[in-house]
Amino acid sequence: MRIRDFEVEIWMNRWETACRLNLAETCVDSVTVEALLELAGLDRDAFLADLLPMRLTYGAIEGTDRLRTAIAALYDTASAADVLVCHGAIGANHLVYEALIEPGDVVVPIVPTYQQHTSIPESLGAEVRPLHLREELGWLPDLDELRELASGAKVISLVNPHNPTGSLLPEPAIDAIAGIARAEGAWVVADEVYRGLDQDDPGTGASFVDRYERSVGIGSMSKAFSLAGLRLGWIVAPPEVLHAVSRHRDYSVISVGMVDDLLASVALEARGPLLARNRSIVRRNLAALDAWVAEEPRISYVRPRSGTTAFLRYDAPLTSEELCTRLARSDGVLLVPGSAFGVEGHVRLGFANPAPTLVEGLVRTTDFLAGLPG
Ligand SMILES: Cc1ncc(COP(=O)(O)O)c(C=O)c1O
Repeated sequence: MRIRDFEVEIWMNRWETACRLNLAETCVDSVTVEALLELAGLDRDAFLADLLPMRLTYGAIEGTDRLRTAIAALYDTASAADVLVCHGAIGANHLVYEALIEPGDVVVPIVPTYQQHTSIPESLGAEVRPLHLREELGWLPDLDELRELASGAKVISLVNPHNPTGSLLPEPAIDAIAGIARAEGAWVVADEVYRGLDQDDPGTGASFVDRYERSVGIGSMSKAFSLAGLRLGWIVAPPEVLHAVSRHRDYSVISVGMVDDLLASVALEARGPLLARNRSIVRRNLAALDAWVAEEPRISYVRPRSGTTAFLRYDAPLTSEELCTRLARSDGVLLVPGSAFGVEGHVRLGFANPAPTLVEGLVRTTDFLAGLPG
C-alpha cells in the first residue's frame, strides 16, 4: 500500500528529542500514575491490590465493559455496545478508513487536518476533495462550499475541536454539517480527541455522535485526558460500522493492554477532576500566549476556542520550515511548520505544556523573531 509521508510525524521524529523547549507537543502535560490515582481519590494500596494479581492475558477483546461504559458516558446517546477500543486514536482512525473506504469513494476532509484523514483515504483509492478552512472565517468551514464538495460523498471528515487552529464548531454549524451529510447519506468521521478542553464553560462541547445518526466518533486518552502513554483510543459508531471495523481490527489489534484498559477506566471514572486540571492548564497557558501574541509585532492569530494548539501567522521573509528549523537550532524551541499542514506563513504552537516551558519558549521566540530581517 503506497502512502504519503506523514509530515508532522516526520518533523516530530526529527526534532522532538533535539529541542529543550518543546512547544510542538499537543497533549496536555501528562500525569503520572501516582498523580492519576490521587486525582481519582484512590488509595494506592487498594489499587495495587487490584493490579498485582492481574493475569496478563489478552483481556477483554473489545475493551472491558467497565472501560466501554466509562467511554459511553462521554456521550449523551451512546452505550457500551456502541464503543470499540483501539490502539490510540491513530489506530481508530486507521481502522475506520480501512473499513469504510473502497476505491473511487468520495471523501471530503476539512483541512488543514491530522494527515491520516487525507492520506489514508487517498492510499485506499478514494477521491479526496478537501475543503480548505480560511483564516478570515475564523478557521471555520464555509458551509456552502462544503455542500458543493460533499455531493456524492461517502465520508465527510473533520477534527473538532480543531488541530492545528484550536477553532471549535458552534452547535448550529455541527447541525448544518449533519444536514449536509444526511442529504448525501454520508458518514461524518469526527475526530474529537481534543473534546473537553474548551476555553469557555461548560468546557466540553457537543459531539457529532449525539447530533447525527451516521457519525463515527473518535476519541482518545492522549490529549484532553493527558494520558498518551496508555496508547488507548476508541470508536463510537452504529453497529454496521463497528462490525466492519471489527473485521479489520481482528487483523491488527486483538485487544488493548489490560493495564492500559484499567488505567483508562480509572481516569475516565475520574474525568471530573482530571478534566478540571487539564482545562485549568490550557486556560491559564492560553492567557499567557494571548498576552505574548498581543505584544509580538510579527505574530497574529485567531485565538483558539478549544484544544491545545494555536496556529500563528508570522510576518517574516522565510518559509515556515526555515523559521522552525532556525528557531530549533539557535534557541532549542520546537514549533511545527505550517507547511506540514499544507499552509505556509504559519506555525503551530502547542500551549498545554508545563507553564515554565511555555513561558521560556515564548521569551526565546521573541528574541529570535527580533533578530530576523524585516
Ligand atoms: C486530531 C488528532 N487525531 C488523532 C491523533 C492521534 O492520537 P493518539 O495519541 O490517540 O493516537 C492526534 C495526535 O496528535 C491528533 O492530533
